[in-house]
Amino acid sequence: MNFTLTQDQQQIQQLARTFAEKELLPGVRERDEKSEFPLEAFRKLGKTGIYGLPYSTEVGGLGGSYLSYILAVEELSKVDASFGIAFSVDTSLYGGSIMNSSAPEAIKKKFLAPITYGEKIGSFGLTEHTAGSDAGGQRTVAVKDGDSYIINGSKCFNTNGPLADYTVIYCLTDPALGTKGMAAFVVEKGTPGFTVGKVENKMGIRSALVSDMHLENVRVPAENMIAQPGEGFKLAMKTLDGGRIGVAAQGLGIAKGAFEITRKYMMEREQFGKPICKQQYLAFKMAELQTKIQAAELLLYKAATCKEEGQPYTVPAAMAKMTCTNVAMEVTTEAVQLLGGNGYMKDYHVERMMRDAKITQIYEGTNEIQKLVISGQLFR
Ligand code: CAA
Repeated sequence: MNFTLTQDQQQIQQLARTFAEKELLPGVRERDEKSEFPLEAFRKLGKTGIYGLPYSTEVGGLGGSYLSYILAVEELSKVDASFGIAFSVDTSLYGGSIMNSSAPEAIKKKFLAPITYGEKIGSFGLTEHTAGSDAGGQRTVAVKDGDSYIINGSKCFNTNGPLADYTVIYCLTDPALGTKGMAAFVVEKGTPGFTVGKVENKMGIRSALVSDMHLENVRVPAENMIAQPGEGFKLAMKTLDGGRIGVAAQGLGIAKGAFEITRKYMMEREQFGKPICKQQYLAFKMAELQTKIQAAELLLYKAATCKEEGQPYTVPAAMAKMTCTNVAMEVTTEAVQLLGGNGYMKDYHVERMMRDAKITQIYEGTNEIQKLVISGQLFR
């Protein structure tokens, strides 16, 4: 496996880095305080075509590499992890559901092409109040009625929910069969009976909008069914494998962002007559963190490469997700400590990064679920 980035990948990385510094850094603190999503910036980045990176050209994408997309999530998350997850859910979970599905090409194109340029935003409706880690515990039901389906139920913790033009709704067409009776549909914003519920007030990733979604007698054309009855659960699981690589990239981005702020601070901040980086105890702490960041990076790029090369990636994705997000939590917690009193203040960003890091250990499968996935493969 070769981890030398191609010229294209380096260009994507640079594009995302410049965009993050120019367009996301100004106002990131205010957006965090007000829980405001930078929709204009999201659309502006979309115009570069970057959201189309992992999709095939047949459906309107760029046919680029998965690693390029992952590098972009990482760069954006260094500065604004809320933006990073909005992009990742839009691409890996909404887009991934459709790309991984057996839907006809015309349907794939219809629901993906507007995503690739940021004209439309997607969301992923799997989790319910009774179905978190146990994703099979769904209660949302779809009943066939002529050439459409009527969906009833509720989803929660939908990232991008309040903004989404399209949401993939996973639901049961045969509740008696449990996970084997699950299907999936694309439901469009404005469909009668499909409403945004409570918008969450969160600890971190505060400018990513997360809400409940309610479905009351929502009539959806049968052609919007992207997973046939019985195929929905496997589609969700396969899609989450890709999503977890996205969250790993978000975690690694947060870790690298906080690390860099800390490194610079330590070279400038003087105590006891010298910069604090000259205190060996503190410098050694940074050496340890940098090593952990680089180890996490290897796992992340390996997982993305496995996906890209068509190799099995369930376990590499779980390992990358668990490792990168644990590193994000550790690095941001240490960053707050290393910056001392300043670290606790909002001006230096690291307290926000620490709050943002926490959710990465929880969503798209808690890190305990990742251990379940990894150990499950060990003892089959
Ligand atoms: N790919 C394809 N198929 C898979 C699969 C995968 N990765 N994992 C499991 N399957 C298949 C199995 O092969 C099995 O198929 P058969 O019935 O034909 O044998 C079927 O799915 C059921 O598998 P399990 O018995 O292993 O299923 P389970 O009910 O025990 O659940 C689990 C397994 C791993 C715990 C799963 O429920 C899970 O991943 N839970 C976590 C849910 C999650 O990640 N939620 C995230 C929500 S989205 C989010 O957070 C977005 C956001 O806002 C940022």
